[in-house]
Amino acid sequence: MRSRNPCFLWVIGSLFMCLPILIYLASRTKVIHQSKDKEGERDHHAFDIKYIEFFSVRPSQLVYLDKKGYRLALDSSDESNYIEAKSGVIDKTSENFDAKSNSSNDSSQARFVSNDSFMNAYEENEAKGDAERDESIDYNMGWEEVQEEPKRIPCASKRPFVNLVLLRTHRTGSGTLANILYRYGDLNGLDFALPKQKSYDFYWPLHFNPSYVDKKYLNSTAPNLLINARYSPDTIPSFMPEDSYYIAIIRKPTSHFESVFYGYQIDDLLGMNNYSDPFDAFLTKPKQYLLQYLHQEPRFDININMVKNGQTFDLGLQHKYYNDPVMIKKHISDLAEKINLVLLMEYFDESLVLLKRELCWDLDDVVYFKLNQRSPEYKETNITDQQQMRIDEWNNADVALYDFFNKTFWNKISAQDQTFYQEVDKLRAKVRSLEKECIHSLETNRDTGEVEIRLNEHTIPDMSRYLCEKMTLKEESYISYLRKKYNLKFKDYNERLRNWFYEKLNKTRLDL
Ligand SMILES: *[C@@H]1O[C@H](CO)[C@@H](O)[C@H](O)[C@H]1NC(C)=O
Ligand SMILES: *[C@@H]1O[C@H](CO)[C@@H](O)[C@H](O)[C@H]1NC(C)=O
Ligand SMILES: *[C@@H]1O[C@H](CO)[C@@H](O)[C@H](O)[C@H]1NC(C)=O
Ligand SMILES: *[C@@H]1O[C@H](CO)[C@@H](O)[C@H](O)[C@H]1NC(C)=O
Ligand SMILES: *[C@@H]1O[C@H](CO)[C@@H](O)[C@H](O)[C@H]1NC(C)=O
Ligand SMILES: *[C@@H]1O[C@H](CO)[C@@H](O)[C@H](O)[C@H]1NC(C)=O
Ligand SMILES: *[C@@H]1O[C@H](CO)[C@@H](O)[C@H](O)[C@H]1NC(C)=O
Ligand SMILES: *[C@@H]1O[C@H](CO)[C@@H](O)[C@H](O)[C@H]1NC(C)=O
Repeated sequence: MRSRNPCFLWVIGSLFMCLPILIYLASRTKVIHQSKDKEGERDHHAFDIKYIEFFSVRPSQLVYLDKKGYRLALDSSDESNYIEAKSGVIDKTSENFDAKSNSSNDSSQARFVSNDSFMNAYEENEAKGDAERDESIDYNMGWEEVQEEPKRIPCASKRPFVNLVLLRTHRTGSGTLANILYRYGDLNGLDFALPKQKSYDFYWPLHFNPSYVDKKYLNSTAPNLLINARYSPDTIPSFMPEDSYYIAIIRKPTSHFESVFYGYQIDDLLGMNNYSDPFDAFLTKPKQYLLQYLHQEPRFDININMVKNGQTFDLGLQHKYYNDPVMIKKHISDLAEKINLVLLMEYFDESLVLLKRELCWDLDDVVYFKLNQRSPEYKETNITDQQQMRIDEWNNADVALYDFFNKTFWNKISAQDQTFYQEVDKLRAKVRSLEKECIHSLETNRDTGEVEIRLNEHTIPDMSRYLCEKMTLKEESYISYLRKKYNLKFKDYNERLRNWFYEKLNKTRLDL
């Protein structure tokens, strides 16, 4: 579904292409903290080590970041001893490490060389922070001290799931959930099914079809992640790996309908602007208003699909079955068979902890900022009992859907051990701490009625900036970032970057 907000299209691309990278060197925080400056004790050649950071959420991974903290690439290749990026290089051939540490001698040792103007500009800003960097600085995103190995609280599988499908549902918190999955795939270098241009949800309301996927990002193999596809029981399984884990999120039909009605301005669509209370008026005779609209309009707005049983529609049920309780029931039990976990928006934190446990992820993988939230003043908060009854009656399939998956959800929760709620509290604490650190303000966009997150400009520590900026990316932005990342990683850039690198290297040598 297309948003009415044109501002969605942040141009992170341009930033991405022209800013220098930083390097986050995966290493164990403790080791790094123990080590102190030993510069001078070793031969560091002439390389100007401009900036080095440590990223310790996942030990032994190299992460390259640009100035804004956007991740450029993940080092997983053994084939080369160097990895280039737009404006820097990691040289793993050298015994030497960085200027700040000589203690970390695992295979992820690296050195960073860069001296372009962007980097210099950046350093001016960051010089102070750099000079002061020492072990008292929290390299760990302001979170609790990291263990040497991330401690995994009991999870259903022995290893993290990496093949995932998030089914598209609208106005259910799925944007926030999508962001979590994008970040997970991004951080772990997984392959995404990215949609072709101009759609981030694979041409919803069409059922997913593999031809909507941009194959050039796939290198002839099935992707790990498919995010925001409309449910289709045949085409998705045929496209995705067999062991894919299917996720969906739903919410209470009452609040969902309210969100659809105001969020998509259904009153405008149906020409009900002159009513004093279009919401209430619609609910008195919903079918009549809808049919009237469908008769009048030669082409109807796709958002109209959301007006009745919107969630079940997203999950694949055809309109014609809305009055067929048997078909509805059958469809729901089909879904229950195919979808591994249906989350509830009302219990978002519990849902995420459940998800994290099922997937064997870390709690850090599921931190979030709420995206696409409506501002309270754009909500109808005072829904009467009568309205609620009418909404439920009108959205009969959604009510059945919610009833069913509400049960399975709480069954899963009751099967958890007593540490479950401790983990929920921990997640909330992490989210609060990131909010405190990163968020400057929440502002209402008057065009969309949605809350937009404004991050602090200068006061966020680098590590959190990386994370927090990612956490605010909506689908379109994340996809365009991923395209850039993959282009950089895969395309003929390689040759150019290699030359660029050697040019720099040669220049540095000559300068010696
Ligand atoms: C760093 O290297 C020096 C000698 O090269 C050694 O004496 C020192 O113990 C090392 N520091 C650490 C923390 O390993
Ligand atoms: C360096 O590597 C050796 C051998 O792998 C290991 O025993 C030692 O603990 C490492 N030192 C540090 C400081 O990581
Ligand atoms: C690095 O940049 C500075 C400032 O632009 C310049 O003076 C210096 O020569 C450069 N050094 C190398 C090795 O390129
Ligand atoms: C709203 O306007 C339409 C046509 O302009 C009219 O038929 C309808 O009665 C009006 N409704 C109200 C509540 O004024
Ligand atoms: C909510 O609606 C009821 C009935 O229409 C009304 O009595 C009550 O004052 C309303 N509350 C608010 C906060 O608007
Ligand atoms: C969801 O399930 C819980 C636990 O069984 C129950 O208390 C709650 O009323 C249910 N909610 C809805 C909306 O059905
Ligand atoms: C695509 O896959 C082939 C075969 O596995 C591999 O050699 C090649 O490096 C891959 N290309 C990219 C860009 O990953
Ligand atoms: C760098 O220097 C090597 C020889 O030292 C030379 O073969 C190579 O062409 C140079 N590369 C560039 C890009 O200048």
